[in-house]
Amino acid sequence: MSHWSAAIEDALGKTRRNIGLFGDAFPHVSTDGEGGRRYSTNLNPNTDWTDGFWSGILWLSYQYSGDEAFRSAAARTVESFRQRLAGDLALDHHDIGFLYSLSAKAQWIVEKDESARRLALDAADKLMSRFREKGQYIQAWGPEGDPVNGGRIIIDCLMNLPLLYWAYEQTGEERYRRTAIVHADKSRRYLVRGDDSSYHTFHFKPETGEPIGGDTHQGYTNGSTWTRGQAWGIYGFALSYRYSRDPLYLETSKRLAKYFLERLPEDGVVYWDFNAPVNAETYRDSSASAIASAGILELLGHLEASDPDRGLLEEGLQRSMTSLVRHYATIGDDGREGFIKRGSYHVLGNFSPDDLTIWGDYFYLEALMRLERGMTGYWYA
Ligand code: GLY
Repeated sequence: MSHWSAAIEDALGKTRRNIGLFGDAFPHVSTDGEGGRRYSTNLNPNTDWTDGFWSGILWLSYQYSGDEAFRSAAARTVESFRQRLAGDLALDHHDIGFLYSLSAKAQWIVEKDESARRLALDAADKLMSRFREKGQYIQAWGPEGDPVNGGRIIIDCLMNLPLLYWAYEQTGEERYRRTAIVHADKSRRYLVRGDDSSYHTFHFKPETGEPIGGDTHQGYTNGSTWTRGQAWGIYGFALSYRYSRDPLYLETSKRLAKYFLERLPEDGVVYWDFNAPVNAETYRDSSASAIASAGILELLGHLEASDPDRGLLEEGLQRSMTSLVRHYATIGDDGREGFIKRGSYHVLGNFSPDDLTIWGDYFYLEALMRLERGMTGYWYA
């Protein structure tokens, strides 16, 4: 058994147990620290931005194993997402893309279920309603006209765009693709800095689209580089390239990936912000390394065999994934409900700074399955 497949089998075993522990509720982050132990003390009824990741883990587990127990649990989550959209519950944010790509769209990808396809298209329409015509961007959080967030974009949104590109492929309606491209272009121009680092967020005047400036929400300072934001950018621009074939997106993904890998600490898994002072107390963000790894696997799939940066990217990927499996994975530790320890949600806010994160688990499993079986998750069909 390869060390990837042993890690996958352990994660599948935990997922089997978690189905019983979670029931119809959804995991988010652990709150018990020390690397993170339990999701089950902090479940939600499908009201958080992270709930698609549990659905995605179940679909990946089913696709990998063929085990019907995973399929029926995954299909139940899609019903929950149907009710969430019908009731417009906790959807006043752009993470509709994360939520419905990994649940309804995943079900359509796995088993061509027509009602799941319809649900994912309805979710794409909901995401489209966040596009602000005057400013020409997708508003990240809160209602239109919100005094703090009305003009805010965030780098994480690049991972929400695949739902729109996919909706274009499904329907032929150009508006979906145009919206995704306008937003990706704006993100490239304003969130990515000249030295290939990134802002977490950027503000525009909502009435005119005039740029105001960058800042952070979860990073160390406004001008620092939050490692998870950089990872969302690596994967998000690679996906915009896959759908649009605009070489600028491929180049941007690669620049962000090189910046990330050139700053790996000795053990190969990043701290929570590239500019946070490093000492024995500095928190890691294992989820950032998991997202970056899955994103670099996507990126590598688009590069020429002769690309001069291929070696650096492949070596960095192996270092990251090997360290996650050897030093951060919970393999053999059944007291922990997640797959990788030491994610951080929001360090300066003191929200789960050293914990399990359900998105870290999803991307770790996706990256393992990409390495082991060439399975690519649910960002595209
Ligand atoms: N998208 C929110 C986060 O990464 O914490």
